[in-house]
Amino acid sequence: MSFTFSGQVALVTGGAAGIGRATALAFAQAGLSVVVSDVDTAGGEGTVELILAAGGQATFVRCDVTREAEVQALMAATLEAYGRLDYAFNNAGIEIEKGKLADGSEAEYDAIMGVNVKGVWLCMKHQIPLLLAQGGGAIVNTASVAGLGAAPKMSIYSASKHAVIGLTKSAAVEYAKKKIRVNAVCPAVIDTDMFRRAYEADPRKGEFAAAMHPVGRIGKVEEIATAVLYLCCDNAAFTTGHALAVDGGATAI
Ligand SMILES: NC(=O)c1ccc[n+]([C@@H]2O[C@H](COP(=O)([O-])OP(=O)(O)OC[C@H]3O[C@@H](n4cnc5c(N)ncnc54)[C@H](O)[C@@H]3O)[C@@H](O)[C@H]2O)c1
Repeated sequence: MSFTFSGQVALVTGGAAGIGRATALAFAQAGLSVVVSDVDTAGGEGTVELILAAGGQATFVRCDVTREAEVQALMAATLEAYGRLDYAFNNAGIEIEKGKLADGSEAEYDAIMGVNVKGVWLCMKHQIPLLLAQGGGAIVNTASVAGLGAAPKMSIYSASKHAVIGLTKSAAVEYAKKKIRVNAVCPAVIDTDMFRRAYEADPRKGEFAAAMHPVGRIGKVEEIATAVLYLCCDNAAFTTGHALAVDGGATAI
């Protein structure tokens, strides 16, 4: 069975790289018009070029998800480009911690919570009115396995991803009768720039990361994209308020 989409327009934040870029490409491949958004203009335009080269439809809109005026402008630009919004993948996120909880700084806390939590909240706040006006849609937020359990030396990040799941579940219940589904995807370690920044300096850490997953390897961006497309598509009509671990069995241990 292939995924069926009755909607036409998808928005991806953090679409300049990694999981966001792979998911933007997957939405386009499924025949949707894609608004690619990021603070990284060169990377975001690069994603659009890849989609156009493959025969798809896409537009880049720069947006810092921590700024409400920019998020509002992103939704306005989406309507201007394609006239509607059906699926939103709120994926922009950062991880910058390197130490235990007592070593963290207020600046780290504010930065991580700002992008990972406030950013997702602001995006949903300004997406939901568009979806309500159209009679429905689907939102997927990027949490993490760090939102399902402990993440040593990443306590602020872990708290931010637990918060993403809280926002996801609450919004799902609030808008379920309005035909808006809201789910989260929870990746384990995925091969992206974020992973390379954290692990590549020390190859032993890479081996350790692979061993954390019962399948014996880290994940691929395409494997997260597939999960996001499933959660958005019509086949998932009965799935809302769910935090889907895509983790090679890591949280089953
Ligand atoms: N890579 C992993 O192992 C992993 C695991 C679990 C969860 N995640 C989550 O997946 C998401 C995507 O991460 P990735 O691994 O693809 O990392 P990445 O660094 O390759 O991509 C993140 C993107 O978010 C953008 N971004 C950062 N701050 C922003 C802001 N204020 N406004 C708009 N865009 C902003 C960055 O420019 C970047 O393009 C993040 O939410 C991350 O926390 C990643």
